[in-house]
Amino acid sequence: MEVKIINDYQELSRIVGYEIVHLVRLKPDAVICLPSGHTPLGLFDELADQHNRKLADFSRCIFIGLDEWLGMDEHDQGSCKYLMYTLLFDRLGLKREQIHFFDAKTTDPGQECKRIDRIIALLGGIDIMVLGIGMNGHLGLNEPGTDPGLYAHVTELDTVTKQIGQKYFTESIPLTQGITLGIRHIMESRKVILMASGVKKAAIVKQLLEGNIGNMLPASLVREHPDAVLYLDKEAAGN
Ligand code: PGA
Repeated sequence: MEVKIINDYQELSRIVGYEIVHLVRLKPDAVICLPSGHTPLGLFDELADQHNRKLADFSRCIFIGLDEWLGMDEHDQGSCKYLMYTLLFDRLGLKREQIHFFDAKTTDPGQECKRIDRIIALLGGIDIMVLGIGMNGHLGLNEPGTDPGLYAHVTELDTVTKQIGQKYFTESIPLTQGITLGIRHIMESRKVILMASGVKKAAIVKQLLEGNIGNMLPASLVREHPDAVLYLDKEAAGN
């Protein structure tokens, strides 16, 4: 995994945006998976700007949803789907058929995981997977201790995730389980980009880079991916 330290958050967002736009120029029907969370907000602005200025054409791309709080859908403000639609997909003018997202309100989450696995397999895998890093080192909702051999699955949320997840909601809400693409999807993606910004991420980034590679810190597993880049702003890099 390559590590790139960028001056600040704005530049980091611009550079990751450029990576995606560059891929889409080479492969207009690219399969793209982007995270929700606060880290990619600048990236979403960048992609929307490229779209508005007609510098990028996402009309043939396919977007895969990374994860969701189990039991929520786009009508729940603060859900991943709500955030992805309002902050990115609607701004890019995507058609519904370009987006494959977990139905986390399903009564059969196991089948729903298989449905998403099948879609990704039929599409020939994910071309670019962009991920934020949780304060506990999670990727998507692959929590510490996750089985790296899994594709999509339901997860029991870690205490840290239950607490930090509250930031997406206007009132306190019980978060217990999630549904997420698995580490296996991440490791099989053709390119992986990890992003981290801000001083609050410096400790987990240091651990991810200097500690052992293993499932107790899911983000560390990406160090073994053949085409992965970790983009850090100076604060996240501890500079
Ligand atoms: P953040 O979330 O981008 O809001 O820090 C990252 C994550 O939890 O994966």
